[in-house]
Amino acid sequence: MINIALPKGRLGEKVYAMFEAAGYECPSIKEESRKLIFENPEKGVRYFWVKPSDVSIYVERGAADIGVAGKDILLEYEPQLYELLDLNIGKCKMAVAAKKDFYDSGDSTLKVATKFCNIARQYYASLGREIDIIKLNGSIELAPVLGLSDVIVDIVETGKTLKENDLEVRADIVPISARLVANQSAFRFQSQKIEEIVQELKAQVQKV
Ligand code: PRP
Repeated sequence: MINIALPKGRLGEKVYAMFEAAGYECPSIKEESRKLIFENPEKGVRYFWVKPSDVSIYVERGAADIGVAGKDILLEYEPQLYELLDLNIGKCKMAVAAKKDFYDSGDSTLKVATKFCNIARQYYASLGREIDIIKLNGSIELAPVLGLSDVIVDIVETGKTLKENDLEVRADIVPISARLVANQSAFRFQSQKIEEIVQELKAQVQKV
């Protein structure tokens, strides 16, 4: 049995649809319930619904053999696992945004509000810019509006949240999408089955 951690929510439903189309269906997952584990012994798969930002933890520690995580989480936490395939869904970008009237003279330490401290630190280190990180857990767009920070480093998908809060993108940091990841020892010991799944999913990615 291959244990698969799926990110709970809209992205997870799309991901499951790809696994289903790839031949790894598990009909019970579609029934209305609060269950978190579903298996199809015939196909040799067991799915878990996991909070999206926790998928890499389950996979890194081997509670799941494979899973689907956003590139944002992989860059932020740098888990020890293998990234096998870009599923080309859940596409967005990591970007720097600020109020339209904010001008960065570069003279003082830049106050950066974000959930993604590691990504923000690495980005500004690459520019040689000194920053003060303000770690927030959500509604990041509020920070520059209320003067808590000069800029934010956050995910931009449609750009609607920025627009409706009078913010604008100042720099793109990195494109983001959902990635198939594998536990390192599962990948060695169950390589044939995992490789089959990768090939079947690859065919689905090409169709999207
Ligand atoms: C994410 C992100 C932005 C928003 C971007 O927030 O942090 O706030 O989505 O999407 P958009 O460009 O399509 O408007 P999320 O909904 O995950 O909530 P939170 O970060 O505030 O918890």
